[in-house]
Amino acid sequence: MSSPDGAILAIDAGTTGVTALVVEHDGRIAARGYQEFSQHFPRPGWVEHAPEEIWQATLEACREVLKKYDASALRAVGITNQRETVMLWDRETLGAPRRAIVWQDRRTAELCTRLQDDGHEARVRELTGLRLDPYFSGTKLMWLAEHEPHTWALVESGRYAIGTVDSYLIARMSRGNYHVTDVSNACRTLLFDLEAGDWSDELCSLFGVPRDALPDLVPSWGDIATTDPATFLGLSLPISGMAGDQQSALFGQTCFDEGDSKCTYGTGSFILTNTGSSVQRSDALLASAAWRSPDGAITYCSEGSIFVTGAAVQWLRDGIQIVGSAAESEAVASTVADSGGVVFVPALTGLGAPHWDPQARGLIVGITRGTTRAHVVRATLEAITFEVRDVLDVMPRLSSLRVDGGAAANDLLCQLQADQVGVPVERPTAVETTGLGAAFLAGLGVGLWSSTDDLRHTWTLDRRFDPTSDRTAADAAHARWSRAVELAKGWAD
Ligand code: G3P
Repeated sequence: MSSPDGAILAIDAGTTGVTALVVEHDGRIAARGYQEFSQHFPRPGWVEHAPEEIWQATLEACREVLKKYDASALRAVGITNQRETVMLWDRETLGAPRRAIVWQDRRTAELCTRLQDDGHEARVRELTGLRLDPYFSGTKLMWLAEHEPHTWALVESGRYAIGTVDSYLIARMSRGNYHVTDVSNACRTLLFDLEAGDWSDELCSLFGVPRDALPDLVPSWGDIATTDPATFLGLSLPISGMAGDQQSALFGQTCFDEGDSKCTYGTGSFILTNTGSSVQRSDALLASAAWRSPDGAITYCSEGSIFVTGAAVQWLRDGIQIVGSAAESEAVASTVADSGGVVFVPALTGLGAPHWDPQARGLIVGITRGTTRAHVVRATLEAITFEVRDVLDVMPRLSSLRVDGGAAANDLLCQLQADQVGVPVERPTAVETTGLGAAFLAGLGVGLWSSTDDLRHTWTLDRRFDPTSDRTAADAAHARWSRAVELAKGWAD
């Protein structure tokens, strides 16, 4: 089955797996494929991915989709990706000399402190809208230069390219013909001047990164690249849309107007607000580029990045193995009325917004002899909602919160979230908003949709969760959480 208007293949290369979607003109997801890939934890606090595995997972997810949908109806490809994760590849062979250093990796905490002690924080914040935190790509590259000088010499000689996952996939899909990225990814590297909308020579020199090794900047939709059938499943298609996953989700939620916000529950959770043509700076939040249109205009956003939310549920499954699947967490947590006083702070890779402590580590407190796995699982879902509340508490007040991402399908989580933030939580019919955003961008790029207005009708409400009227209980639970967060801070110092 295929739509007469044609459809878009959207690739969402996330932190734990790659999703491929076929999206039709009415915004409906017509086919889906998914492939997980391995997480490597070489040392405590380090997280790496093998680029080749990400590429193979991408091919596999696309193959799965193409078994269900006629490839001849596809008009273009859109790409969205985990951001900040940085990798190197050989421009000739496209092979990667080492594993990617993932956004969650904390190995550069000391390097960040060194840069802060040397007085660079204020200028870095002013230029980038970010902060000196191991989260971003710049210090990861600096670490590579310092610790792997032989590899880095080939970056400096021009043989190795530098890029985030979007750039790498486009290089693989085009057989090395393109080395590109867009502003939504570039602005998360610490090498990008947010107001100027371009790579910064000053920042490249501070972090010791040769500007020539970085990708060219292209608009978030329009003429970006073309796939090569020899490497990409026999398909020659325009890649006409791209954005980092959180900005893509903002687009997919049709948050096109200033003040529109969304919260995506993925590996982490990310609350983004469209700030229009202005960069809004804040101590606790980040300022970023949301997208750049083909006419060059940048739309900005403000972001609260929470590092571990869905990853905490994944840890329950793979780490301590107390649930069989992420979906099971809802059923298990529903067997108890509350967490029985257990609080879990999932600072497994430090704390992001609004606490910003790379040395924080996870903790579970309040355990008694009566504690069961159900209490721990419920405490995990509660933790996600407390983390989101911590971010919303430092943002201008919202009248409602639009949610998406895999865990938004969890009714209990949505209800607990509404109870915590005290405003209704609105879940759209399609929660795979990240992939939808990439499809929308790519569809705009080839004229499947004529404008953002043409896309607004695709958003439909699935369910609205109204908050409890018992604010005292919600606030007391949050106060207990805040005490536990203070204990988690600085643990790895
Ligand atoms: O900044 C990291 C973010 O892009 C990762 O998103 O969906 O893989 O958790 P996700």
